Amino acid sequence: MKQLHKQITSSYNRRDEDMTTPYSPKTLKHHRSLPRSINYLLKEQRLLFILVGIFIGSTFFIIQPNLSRLTPNEPNSFVPRSFSSSLTQHDELSRSSYGLGGKVGRVPVGITGRRLRIVVTGGAGFVGSHLVDKLIARGNDVIVIDNFFTGRKQNLVHLFGNPRFELIRHDVVEPILLEVDQIYHLACPASPVHYKYNPVKTIISFSTNVMGTLNMLGLAKRIGARFLLTSTSEVYGDPLEHPQKETYWGNVNPIGERSCYDEGKRTAETLSMDYHRGAGVEVRIARIFNTYGPRMCLDDGRVVSNFVAQAIRKQPLTVYGDGKQTRSFQYVSDLVNGLVALMEGEHVGPFNLGNPGEFTMLELAQVVKETIDPSATIEYKPNTADDPHMRKPDISKAKELLNWEPKVPLREGLPLMVNDFRNRILNEDEGKGMK
Ligand SMILES: NC(=O)c1ccc[n+]([C@@H]2O[C@H](COP(=O)([O-])OP(=O)(O)OC[C@H]3O[C@@H](n4cnc5c(N)ncnc54)[C@H](O)[C@@H]3O)[C@@H](O)[C@H]2O)c1
Repeated sequence: MKQLHKQITSSYNRRDEDMTTPYSPKTLKHHRSLPRSINYLLKEQRLLFILVGIFIGSTFFIIQPNLSRLTPNEPNSFVPRSFSSSLTQHDELSRSSYGLGGKVGRVPVGITGRRLRIVVTGGAGFVGSHLVDKLIARGNDVIVIDNFFTGRKQNLVHLFGNPRFELIRHDVVEPILLEVDQIYHLACPASPVHYKYNPVKTIISFSTNVMGTLNMLGLAKRIGARFLLTSTSEVYGDPLEHPQKETYWGNVNPIGERSCYDEGKRTAETLSMDYHRGAGVEVRIARIFNTYGPRMCLDDGRVVSNFVAQAIRKQPLTVYGDGKQTRSFQYVSDLVNGLVALMEGEHVGPFNLGNPGEFTMLELAQVVKETIDPSATIEYKPNTADDPHMRKPDISKAKELLNWEPKVPLREGLPLMVNDFRNRILNEDEGKGMK
């Protein structure tokens, strides 16, 4: 009891002392030699916890990229052994062109930004499947929408099983709702054989080119996605200006056999610009010139695939008209790089994407002969309706604003396509693209 009384009294005394001593915060400080913050850190093992945190964080960022290299995040990790062994020389080029090389490790999300989710309509087709390869190799999630009118599952089979890849069988003429960041709109029967096969479906019923584009623009508006339209050099028709600049409005026959395609794409461009101006949709427009490469439809009526398939089958090369009409031919990896540069850039376009090297049909036939069979003969046939006399892109706008230009010359690209065509022609049972 005495003890307790003593304690209480002394504590009262101390409080009295405190109250009587004038307030002087400086004199109350302990460890006077150290600044307050260091003092705070040293207390209660805080410093130790901070050091452990730094160690764990830096260990994660050092180890994570190496771990991701071991994960199956590259398309070719999913290629069945049997299929991968049949990869052609082209695939080697694709790997380097699209950054599919084995040395590319995944960069942790958050350092380069968010992983994008991207829709590619017509992704099972020739250009679309190469674009999908590139987007997957860049670490994006890709959803392909295709009705397999001219596309083939075979073009994407190496991606089946890849968790970043999805394939939806769907006709873009019907609306679809998806949550994505970007839409590459390629779906369209693009080659003469296919659009002449069903011109009504292509334009009169406002199908693929018009309704398809409208649906995709509507989706882009609703979800705030960026939208890229793959238009065509056909919007220039039979041009009166050479080479063609984006400012040229074209010379198109509105009632001819090719009009369903040409006018369909012109309308698609109009719709894209209207959605851009009127609804604030971020659009990008590419005007693609003749493109060739592996996975093109065999027998699709395009001149490069015609010549290559005919030379391999030992048939005469068909030249329509006098063969003096000119075209420019771009290798598919160049186009794909241009499309991605356009999508990621800040300019709406339209942009010409093509190789400015210009060849007459007879010169092209000569290159094909030299590459495949020097003894191949040429067979002349009357020219088709509204066949343009010349085509050559002026690509100065894309060079300046997208920092893009094609890299693969015809004589380098053609052999890569020939390997693929040879393999497929040996397996003619794959069909002709019409399913
Ligand atoms: N390849 C070229 O030289 C070239 C030139 C100019 C423009 N383009 C444009 O590039 C795009 C791709 O051309 P490509 O050469 O790869 O043609 P492609 O025929 O190989 O690919 C088109 C794809 O679209 C799909 N498709 C067609 N209609 C569809 C629909 N209603 N719904 C869903 N899918 C549909 C097809 O099945 C196919 O997979 C097209 O829009 C084409 O107009 C290509």
